[in-house]
Amino acid sequence: MNPTLQKTLRFSALIPDTVNRTSTHRVDASGKGVNVSRVLTQLGKPCLHLTQLGESLRPLFLDRCEQDGVALEWVESKSSIRFCYTLINDADASVTELVEEAEPVKNGTEARLMAAYRRLLPGYETVIISGTMAAGFSAVLVPSMVRHAKESGHPVILDLRGRDLVNSLEYTPDVIKPNLFEFAGTFAPELVVGNRLIDHTAEGGAIKNRIREICRALCEQYHCRIVLTRGAESVWYAEPGSFGEYAVERVKPLNTTGSGDAFTAGLAASLMEEATLRDAVAWGVHCGGLNAGLLKVGAIR
Ligand SMILES: Nc1ncnc2c1ncn2[C@@H]1O[C@H](COP(=O)(O)OP(=O)(O)OP(=O)(O)O)[C@@H](O)[C@H]1O
Ligand SMILES: [Mg+2]
Repeated sequence: MNPTLQKTLRFSALIPDTVNRTSTHRVDASGKGVNVSRVLTQLGKPCLHLTQLGESLRPLFLDRCEQDGVALEWVESKSSIRFCYTLINDADASVTELVEEAEPVKNGTEARLMAAYRRLLPGYETVIISGTMAAGFSAVLVPSMVRHAKESGHPVILDLRGRDLVNSLEYTPDVIKPNLFEFAGTFAPELVVGNRLIDHTAEGGAIKNRIREICRALCEQYHCRIVLTRGAESVWYAEPGSFGEYAVERVKPLNTTGSGDAFTAGLAASLMEEATLRDAVAWGVHCGGLNAGLLKVGAIR
């Protein structure tokens, strides 16, 4: 519900305060939902991406989705599609993200989106809701989608954080899958200072027991499963009564943007085939690693 055109630019050396030129650049339709849908499509899983799109960049966005085979249903929002930029600097292997905040969607967008959602839902098996919403949507939209899906018997997977995640829990989503930083920011803000976690190491550090305790309580209260990715470090996962860890085999990353979305797609595809949570995490790790090694955002080939 927050689409973007993602420019990815790769430089042999990116030097601030100078003119930097590159012939390695691309533009892809992106945003969390598109990324997940693209990887599901690449995995051969039929899926439909539902979003809002507005204004003059819409044809470009639709063209990129079509080229990737991403099936899409959109409602008019009159909100210009934003650009986001990934700057890859080979000199120090850094990846810099520049994110434009979206223009608010105009009145009526939420009602159109919800109507499309209700119409489409019976034709699909699982619902995945990922990422943030553009401004202009209300706080009830995501929890309503979760409630409606669960009432009609659909498994729900959420890659959300903050208010949308907290307010959705009472409708018992099946799996929640933020990254660890987002999870801590939502349920244990005392563990977050600025843009990093306190006392967090590859092994987990001092925060691991606290996170484990929060997972245990949430799993019990909401009967959900929780998967927490940690970039190139092992994935933590929890089910009612258990907490596990799955090692990540590091790849030399080229562009890790969208690795979490590739992970979500792999996890969801496995769970739809009734894999255990550990096996689904393993497939998520596989897809996340493939994404990290590619220039293209939210893709596994
Ligand atoms: N350097 C890496 N080597 C191998 N796998 C990686 C690497 N970076 C990420 N991954 C894989 O991708 C998964 C998700 O990564 P991460 O935790 O960074 O997601 P995220 O922060 O949600 O990303 P995004 O929201 O941009 O998609 C990891 O669990 C791991 O499996
Ligand atoms: Mg993510």
